[in-house]
Amino acid sequence: MAEALRIRGVRAGYGATVVLEDIDFGLAERSSLAVLGRNGVGKTTLLATLMGHTSLHAGAIEYRGRPVAHLPVYARARLGIGYVPQAREIFPSLTVEENLVVSTRPGPWTFERIYNLFPRLAERRRHMGNHISGGEQQMLAIARALVGNPTLLLMDEPLEGLAPIIVDGLLAVIARLIREEALTVILVEQSARLALEVTEHALVLSRGRIVHSSASAELLADPDRLASLVVAQ
Ligand SMILES: Nc1ncnc2c1ncn2[C@@H]1O[C@H](COP(=O)(O)OP(=O)(O)OP(=O)(O)O)[C@@H](O)[C@H]1O
Ligand SMILES: [Mg+2]
Repeated sequence: MAEALRIRGVRAGYGATVVLEDIDFGLAERSSLAVLGRNGVGKTTLLATLMGHTSLHAGAIEYRGRPVAHLPVYARARLGIGYVPQAREIFPSLTVEENLVVSTRPGPWTFERIYNLFPRLAERRRHMGNHISGGEQQMLAIARALVGNPTLLLMDEPLEGLAPIIVDGLLAVIARLIREEALTVILVEQSARLALEVTEHALVLSRGRIVHSSASAELLADPDRLASLVVAQ
């Protein structure tokens, strides 16, 4: 299958500070990747680098065969890279629906499909962004990325800080996006087992470097290895 993403020799960080080193990986169209690792290892920095929010010191990023490393954020978004940031970044003084309107670009993800995927957001469409629950804000963050009609969806800890029942529902939606839609998905997660259950491939970061790369099922089947790589020490 054609490649969605190819990262070669990436070194990146914030200003002169280097966080990521020697990052190399590829991802086929419509496949999915879990990015795992302990706190502070560079998971968010990796997604931010794909989106163009960090300083790239070396290396190449190709999206659908096209170099994008030197394109600004908006140009990458226009090419089809969607981002669900760890902080959600909902506009607090806009309604749920207005949050979607400002991010809409033409494509198969219509409001109807979004509200079908997240009936809760349909009920809350006239509520302000800061008057909905944490779980609803996370749904909105994902919905807002989807109405931009991406082909590559980057999600940074979408399950973080949510009640177990909300986690179950959101995980089912993420699994559905991975399985059914014409999307390539990168999922950053602290809940390693959950992420491995819904993705095809996995990589683990430690101190800004890739220390493990395999099929998700392989890592899931090796709890000792998984614990040694991702469980907090
Ligand atoms: N804006 C920034 N400026 C400078 N350093 C930063 C910035 N953001 C993060 N860092 C540093 O980069 C390193 C990696 O941080 P990053 O947020 O990518 O980790 P993470 O794996 O996403 O962690 P978490 O699991 O807590 O979300 C950390 O040492 C962090 O202190
Ligand atoms: Mg992070």
